[in-house]
Amino acid sequence: MSITVSPLSEAIGARIEGVDLSRELDDETFVAIKNALFEHAIIVVPGQTLHEDDQERFCRYFGELEMVRSGEATSDHPAVLMITNVTDSGRPTALEDGEMMFHYDQCYYENPALGSTLYAIEVPDEGGNTLFANCRLAYEALDDGWKARLDGLRALHYYDYKRDPTLRPSEINPGAPQWVHPVVRTHPETGKKAIYVNRLMTLRIEGMDRAESDGILDYLFAHIEKPEFVYEHEWTVGELIMWDNRCSAHARTWFSPDKRRMMRRVTVRDPYPVV
Ligand code: SIN
Repeated sequence: MSITVSPLSEAIGARIEGVDLSRELDDETFVAIKNALFEHAIIVVPGQTLHEDDQERFCRYFGELEMVRSGEATSDHPAVLMITNVTDSGRPTALEDGEMMFHYDQCYYENPALGSTLYAIEVPDEGGNTLFANCRLAYEALDDGWKARLDGLRALHYYDYKRDPTLRPSEINPGAPQWVHPVVRTHPETGKKAIYVNRLMTLRIEGMDRAESDGILDYLFAHIEKPEFVYEHEWTVGELIMWDNRCSAHARTWFSPDKRRMMRRVTVRDPYPVV
């Protein structure tokens, strides 16, 4: 099978056509998809009809599946997370409503995800778009002074699932997951550096007073969110998007709670540590 890969924007992303992800992939096709993901940081595959098993099989080509936190998984598919405000499916739901600030999946754990897939089952006619920021490009655009200043810094990431994803937390709930990672990380497969802090989950830089840490973080949040590094995706039913969680951040725009939005997420575990 020969696929076509076309860039989605100057910032990030590629659209892949000529593949049916409900079938097994041959090696050549998988390598072409993986190379597109590593080069463009996100891939959009339109026109798919995917059941849970299909999405899981696609993810398994990249590695082991990340199991969903207890209480959010369906019993027959423990790696499937339904990101939806639709409550009539009888399945547990997560990240149901509205806007979410930029973040990386699971950066509050020692081993954040390699990447995630999101498959569109129902989409609102307005809003609920996903924004993707190219944190590699954002790093490369920093001047040498900033690159030197960030070298060796580490920051605390934290997420409390119960809180509003449009606000930065003012205090830490000690029971919520948290982990310290480098402010700039190196991609284990491409060797390229990317900024690794985000507005929703990164709280502070270690070993600095609050004002200095806030100053650097505010600068970096605004920097990765600049339009030249961001692509906004308006979803169509049947699209599958995979993002490389090591070098891209994502966010979601507001949508009306009266509109149905149902996305199925399956996430791949990263075998490499964050360095
Ligand atoms: C997520 O952060 O995984 C959800 C993104 C979305 O719903 O667009």
